[in-house]
Amino acid sequence: MDVSGKSAIVTGGASGLGAATAAVLAAAGAKVALFDRDLDKAHAHAGAIGGMAVACDVTDEVSVDAALDQVAEAQGAPRIAVNCAGIVSGSRIVGRNGPFDMSVFRKTIEVNLIGTFCIMSRVAARMAVLDPLEDGERGVIVNTASIAAFEGQIGQAAYSASKGGVAALTLPAAREFVKAGIRVMCIAPGVFETPMVSQGLSDEIREALIAKCQFPARLGRPEEYGNLVLSICGNSMLNGEVIRLDGAQRLEPR
Ligand SMILES: NC(=O)c1ccc[n+]([C@@H]2O[C@H](COP(=O)([O-])OP(=O)(O)OC[C@H]3O[C@@H](n4cnc5c(N)ncnc54)[C@H](O)[C@@H]3O)[C@@H](O)[C@H]2O)c1
Repeated sequence: MDVSGKSAIVTGGASGLGAATAAVLAAAGAKVALFDRDLDKAHAHAGAIGGMAVACDVTDEVSVDAALDQVAEAQGAPRIAVNCAGIVSGSRIVGRNGPFDMSVFRKTIEVNLIGTFCIMSRVAARMAVLDPLEDGERGVIVNTASIAAFEGQIGQAAYSASKGGVAALTLPAAREFVKAGIRVMCIAPGVFETPMVSQGLSDEIREALIAKCQFPARLGRPEEYGNLVLSICGNSMLNGEVIRLDGAQRLEPR
């Protein structure tokens, strides 16, 4: 799909990978809506890239429906949806102070997995009734897993479980949406230079992650993620697949 002139939404669009993706899509001519629970930050970035900011909590279907209504009204129903909203959590299953805090486990699953599913299902319902484009394509959905979905480290059980779920739903979703002409893809990033990594992780863990980078020997740049989203939109043969974007990095147990 040529993104130029198309309506697109990017969840988590106020920060990090989502912000970079929104910028790449806007630069390629898409009309971009930034869905984020941090509306002030979303407004600031939307202003900078010529997009619109929409308050949205991806875990709440009422909020998601209202946000999608707002987008449909302002720029048309989305043909492109990129799920970047997410949170990180790090804790051992059985730590010094006892077993894992279940509220943290539930929250991690709720935002990363249920939030992704909530957006995907509600966007797909709207995409499915749009006019078909070339090859009968109606829309593209790109979800964000993590390489922790495949080789999660000690302390990443909750995060890995949430991202494993995101990776696993890629194929069944793509299969289900074949008749609707909606592609579903997933990107599993390695470690990228975003606020989640610079603020969400301890310096010790961050340094250890950089030390494990292969080639290139640095953290990923958010625009590299955004550029892959743009490539996925433009290449209709990409469907139902999880692409690692990690410079050959493989996480070790710790
Ligand atoms: N940065 C990395 O190294 C890395 C690696 C692998 C996967 N990821 C994944 O990529 C995605 C983006 O991460 P990032 O590094 O850009 O993080 P980030 O913290 O910079 O941005 C995440 C954004 O999501 C928003 N958000 C969180 N919960 C939300 C909710 N319930 N509703 C709406 N918005 C919400 C936040 O306000 C924030 O703007 C996440 O899913 C993350 O797990 C990141």
